[in-house]
Amino acid sequence: MSQITRRQFLQSAGGITFLALMPVGRGLFAATDPTLPRFTALPYLQPGYASHLKHGEESVVIAWQTEHTPTDFQLQFGPTNAYGKKGAITRTERWQGPNDADRRFNYAASLTGLHLNTRYSYRLVGNGKTIAEGEFTSRKGRGEKVKFVAFGDNSYGDPGELAVAYYAYQSHPDFIMNTGDNVYESGLDHEYAKYFFPVYNADVADPKVGAPLLRSVPFYTVLANHDVHHKDPNKRPIANFDKDRDALAYYTAMHLPLNGPKTTGSSTPTMGDAALISDFHECAGPRYPQMANYSFDYGDAHFLCLDSNVYIDPTNAALRDWISADLKGTDALWKFVVYHHPAFNVGDNHYKEQQMRVLSPLFEAHGVDFCLHGHEHTYQRTMPLRFAPTDTTNANPNHADDRRVPGTFTLDTKFDGAAHTKPDGVLYITTGAGGKELYDPGFDTDPTKWLHEDDKNVAYVSKFVSSVHSFTVIEIDGPSLTLTQIDENGVELDKIHVTKA
Ligand SMILES: [Fe+2]
Repeated sequence: MSQITRRQFLQSAGGITFLALMPVGRGLFAATDPTLPRFTALPYLQPGYASHLKHGEESVVIAWQTEHTPTDFQLQFGPTNAYGKKGAITRTERWQGPNDADRRFNYAASLTGLHLNTRYSYRLVGNGKTIAEGEFTSRKGRGEKVKFVAFGDNSYGDPGELAVAYYAYQSHPDFIMNTGDNVYESGLDHEYAKYFFPVYNADVADPKVGAPLLRSVPFYTVLANHDVHHKDPNKRPIANFDKDRDALAYYTAMHLPLNGPKTTGSSTPTMGDAALISDFHECAGPRYPQMANYSFDYGDAHFLCLDSNVYIDPTNAALRDWISADLKGTDALWKFVVYHHPAFNVGDNHYKEQQMRVLSPLFEAHGVDFCLHGHEHTYQRTMPLRFAPTDTTNANPNHADDRRVPGTFTLDTKFDGAAHTKPDGVLYITTGAGGKELYDPGFDTDPTKWLHEDDKNVAYVSKFVSSVHSFTVIEIDGPSLTLTQIDENGVELDKIHVTKA
């Protein structure tokens, strides 16, 4: 076999076509030019702040992170590799640990004025030297086919995570919809550097390494319990900057739509030294706390992404009004709601965290098709269901972990995703087997374990897989949708077809 060059390999992997940065260990990348700082995160594509689809007004963000040495960067982009346009670059400071050597620069280039469903080339130049060249495709408009992958509970360096990243990449998604607990143990910047960027922005596509996804595929995610992992004196979740000055990396590393409510009465809580919190606010800007909730359109689908942490009060009137207005305000054919804590799951670990159940009647009223979650490290698919809560007392944040919400279930038992494809109710998909150790061994083959007395033993789960890591692929073609669950060996575990009209 003839030897291929690094450039040819990267082209074949479909990621950055030119990268003048070499890994030098501990998640650092160095350029050959000694005037350039080492990179702590290679250039990665982010969805940016736009929500609605508008031809000519589309935008994305390309972000990267370096050591704390000022550098003259340029981000050039255009429909061909003649580029022609420059992205507006912002630079913020961020701690990655307690010492001066742990300071870092976070960069974000806004690429604006893009058309929909168009291939763009980009080039990052530092101190006059080309560092990286890559490509991406902007969001698809109404009427265009869409394919995305979803998974959660992933980044902690486990072999399953690397294989899931590889097979997710092999399915050629338009974007990734992460369902939370994207980075363990505490959603810190140095954990992103260790477990997230090296896997999803790897230089090679390999089931034992990961894949070059982030440089060409937008990555959406939602806030989850491992993003806010300390406890306040009352044992409630909080980000403690005295313990970790790189806490809440969700708000500093991610660049997601900024159309959520600015306050909902339950923003992500923080504590610790005022100067450190002020540093965080400066880096996050308007992203904190607004980016906790957001929505966006892609092709014929609308996605509403919600913070479901136990400090959230889903009975809060302002939050509910915003959710209703958002779901009512879209003309998308398909509606997805994405949040981490599954309202309907039958696993052993998080069954009692049912606070999001109180939103189900709203979702039903506004024609939501799917809810996507993680938190349980398994794959669970419910029957199409409708739910009427009978007691919402425990749904508010005064009840930390026991958030049980009893109610009445109405199941569509005819739907089978094959002969009967029009669901009457919402399909709840828990896809939290993205890499971290799996829960509930033995549940796959024993449906009696899927029943709970608190739910009057109603059998609302159709499929349960806990024996292998997996991710979800959803393909939308107008009124026809296919959901496939793929495991860490590339094997299909589940498939359903859903149709409208
Ligand atoms: Fe979780």
